[in-house]
Amino acid sequence: MYHSIISGFGHYVPEQVVTNADLEKVMNTSDAWIQERTGIRERRFFNPETDTVANMSAKASRMALEQAGLQPQDVEFIILATITPDYFFPGSGVLLQRELGLESIGALDVRNACSGFIYSLSIADQFIKTGMYKTILVVGAEIQSSLMEMNDRGRNISVIFGDGAGAVVLQASNEKGKGILSTHLHSDGRFAEELYVKDPGSSRRPEERVDPEIMKGSSIRAFMNGNAVFKHAVVRFHEVIMEALDANGCSKEDIGLLVPHQANLRISNYLKEQLSLRDNQVYNNIMRYGNTTAASIPIALSEAKQEGLLHPDMLLCLAAFGSGFTWASALIRL
Ligand code: UT7
Repeated sequence: MYHSIISGFGHYVPEQVVTNADLEKVMNTSDAWIQERTGIRERRFFNPETDTVANMSAKASRMALEQAGLQPQDVEFIILATITPDYFFPGSGVLLQRELGLESIGALDVRNACSGFIYSLSIADQFIKTGMYKTILVVGAEIQSSLMEMNDRGRNISVIFGDGAGAVVLQASNEKGKGILSTHLHSDGRFAEELYVKDPGSSRRPEERVDPEIMKGSSIRAFMNGNAVFKHAVVRFHEVIMEALDANGCSKEDIGLLVPHQANLRISNYLKEQLSLRDNQVYNNIMRYGNTTAASIPIALSEAKQEGLLHPDMLLCLAAFGSGFTWASALIRL
């Protein structure tokens, strides 16, 4: 059976840096509140003239492909995790395929929010293990700033989320004990409405669906019950990391680098303490990018690679939690 190894990492973030001070000018918030509650100092917002989910994904993908020594034409399948596709349908996976100049390979969108990248990695891993594909592009990308309300009503969400894209190239290898060791996927739909965008949902009456009153309200914006999400996140993150370690006969001491979904620096720090990890065993870049949902793990991986933090044979642990609720982990031997 084949194993999936990550042979290239890439990322792209929009040029526009939005600092906490910039947000202070348009809503009742403060740099102190944002940093203390989330660790975020700045984030990137897309440029509507130039950035799309598909073209940011293509930039991240080209970087990952170059690192892997491959051309876009070598890609056999695309999986794109996003909850902010360019169109209501089709998904942005096919737009990424078009951006890369690829003709008819399959492209799949995954809508599992913050866990979307690990879900995508898991799907890609299964295709590689069965021998169906040998080279798969796995991407996470979001434009969330266009969904935010830049005012007091939206402040509990808009200070947290940001835009960006990250990608990895997954390739088949025969080398035993290397690559993705296991992935673990979970969900609990009882909590779907704790973090969601309600409208324009298809279960609305036709005349209500794009009603101007709905468009003026907050139901077309992201809603988050932050406290509830936080409480579940700290439990599930830890649980799913331990599940991955146990499944492979590993212990927390074996973790070389933990790359958690960048939800909140307090969550990452809490995890670090729970697992008794050192500072340099947990990667964080939420300070610079905020929470970029499906893009956060691949952006963090690509930056960790650039910073020389990913070493051969290192045990890499990925973990995520978010809307759904969904949560997931992956254990990877580099
Ligand atoms: O990526 C998916 C997973 N997402 C997460 O894991 C996020 C989980 N949740 C969180 O990270 C935190 O709950 C938040 C960062 C969203 C909020 O932090 P918190 O410590 O839970 O704050 P809170 O919601 O309990 O609000 C505390 C106070 C409230 O005021 P009162 O009622 O105490 O007077 C809020 O109205 O902070 C107020 N507040 C703000 N103040 C300044 C809420 N948003 C803001 C803001 N600036 N942006």
